Amino acid sequence: MMTFQSKAGIFFLCLLIIAFSSINLAVAVPKEQEQDRILALPGQPRVAFSQFSGYVTVNEQHGRALFYWLTESPTSPQNKPLVLWLNGGPGCSSVAYGASEEIGPFRINKTGSSLYLNKYAWNKEASILFLESPAGVGFSYTNTSSDLKTSGDKRTAQDALVFLIRWMSRFPQYKYREFYIAGESYAGHYVPQLAKKIHDYNKNNPQIINLKGFIVGNAVTDSYNDGIGTVTYWWSHSMISDQSYKSILKYCNFTAEETSGKCDDVYSYAVNYEFGNIDQYSIYTPTCTASQNNTVRHMRFKNLHLISGYDPCTENYAEKYYNLPEVQKAMHANVTNIPYKWTACSDVLLKNWKDSAISVLPIYKELIAAGLKIWVFRYLTLYLCDKNSIPFCYNVVGTQILWFQLLPQGFLSTTLTSASELAGIHGTLVDRLVDGQRCMMD
Ligand SMILES: *[C@@H]1O[C@H](CO)[C@@H](O)[C@H](O)[C@H]1NC(C)=O
Ligand SMILES: *[C@@H]1O[C@H](CO)[C@@H](O)[C@H](O)[C@H]1NC(C)=O
Ligand SMILES: *[C@@H]1O[C@H](CO)[C@@H](O)[C@H](O)[C@H]1NC(C)=O
Ligand SMILES: *[C@@H]1O[C@H](CO)[C@@H](O)[C@H](O)[C@H]1NC(C)=O
Ligand SMILES: *[C@@H]1O[C@H](CO)[C@@H](O)[C@H](O)[C@H]1NC(C)=O
Repeated sequence: MMTFQSKAGIFFLCLLIIAFSSINLAVAVPKEQEQDRILALPGQPRVAFSQFSGYVTVNEQHGRALFYWLTESPTSPQNKPLVLWLNGGPGCSSVAYGASEEIGPFRINKTGSSLYLNKYAWNKEASILFLESPAGVGFSYTNTSSDLKTSGDKRTAQDALVFLIRWMSRFPQYKYREFYIAGESYAGHYVPQLAKKIHDYNKNNPQIINLKGFIVGNAVTDSYNDGIGTVTYWWSHSMISDQSYKSILKYCNFTAEETSGKCDDVYSYAVNYEFGNIDQYSIYTPTCTASQNNTVRHMRFKNLHLISGYDPCTENYAEKYYNLPEVQKAMHANVTNIPYKWTACSDVLLKNWKDSAISVLPIYKELIAAGLKIWVFRYLTLYLCDKNSIPFCYNVVGTQILWFQLLPQGFLSTTLTSASELAGIHGTLVDRLVDGQRCMMD
């Protein structure tokens, strides 16, 4: 039986704990962090996790600032890993794709004015940090407009490293936390390149960014193998004719910096006149009939730069939602009145991309040797790599890909319902990956 006295004692103890933990909190949480807290997004369902978003300046001289959105885990976020998510393009937004149609906690309703929960959200298992990268993508901006025409792999990696270091000062609770980088498509360049930057930085600095590994899905990795693998995939799925296939192999040099006129011609012909009404990113799912103008998408292919995104309609909802002034206000976004609209992808960046590594496989070799855990996944109904293009799939012989599972088994055994959820690494993807894996290993 509990006496009054012992109850009072417990009460006092509780007070002490509360007082102690709030003092602790006041010391640990910088004010800028609290200012970045999202109270609620317009049209958002109730959630049990914390969200923060805002800007981190990455270059004072040019006035470049990157926009992030952190969605913490609803349960014990202090014990969960931190995952940085990047989308590709180059020029596409992680808020548009990663957060709103792939692995984020919310999906956008067709009206573009409200949100609903994504049951496959990754923040169940880790705190997810979406970064719009580089400057010029989404809400990330530069005050030096010429920067938009001089972006490339190198500056993207450098700015992202500066972002992470500065972000850690605002969120010191994530210093030394188990950290992973994840992404898809052209982020197949960003992810390993940033991992290498961090790895090098950590050699001479306190390892506040406790990089453990990375995950890439349908990643742009190696120009030669990606290029030939992609057209072979199209041809083996009857998306292009025998004639076009042969011409592309004949006229296109996939390791050249610039594509030749003849290559562009045969490539454009195949893409513009032979594909038909098929979503190249997900050939077995319906296409979005709302988007009639395909000019931009085809241009992306001409560059052989593969863009993320499976449902162009979802982009439309996102472009409506993230341009709402009340949404921008709630997210602390666009505080400097950026002179153009928020878009899912930036064509200026894409068209003017300056440096693009021919291959990131040398980075894999280095980082695998350094002991990082790396998971590369591919999906068969997407381009790039399948059993018919095995000879052209990545040959990483001499290296050892460690198939690393960030997420627990149960999470991986849910049902795959659509290609747009692929990047969420769920469903029977692991089974389907068997081919992809063989492809990787061959
Ligand atoms: C960009 O310019 C605006 C307006 O002068 C300024 O408020 C903002 O701080 C600048 N951004 C950066 C990252 O320097
Ligand atoms: C948003 O879409 C979801 C899924 O389609 C639906 O269940 C929900 O009722 C919609 N909410 C609003 C506010 O339209
Ligand atoms: C393709 O381009 C690379 C890089 O410019 C060059 O070294 C190679 O010789 C070219 N291959 C062919 C077959 O022209
Ligand atoms: C498609 O977009 C291009 C470039 O913005 C524009 O010139 C063209 O008129 C558009 N076509 C249609 C059918 O909207
Ligand atoms: C930023 O806000 C201005 C209005 O103040 C708006 O015209 C512009 O489209 C917005 N840009 C972005 C990228 O959100």
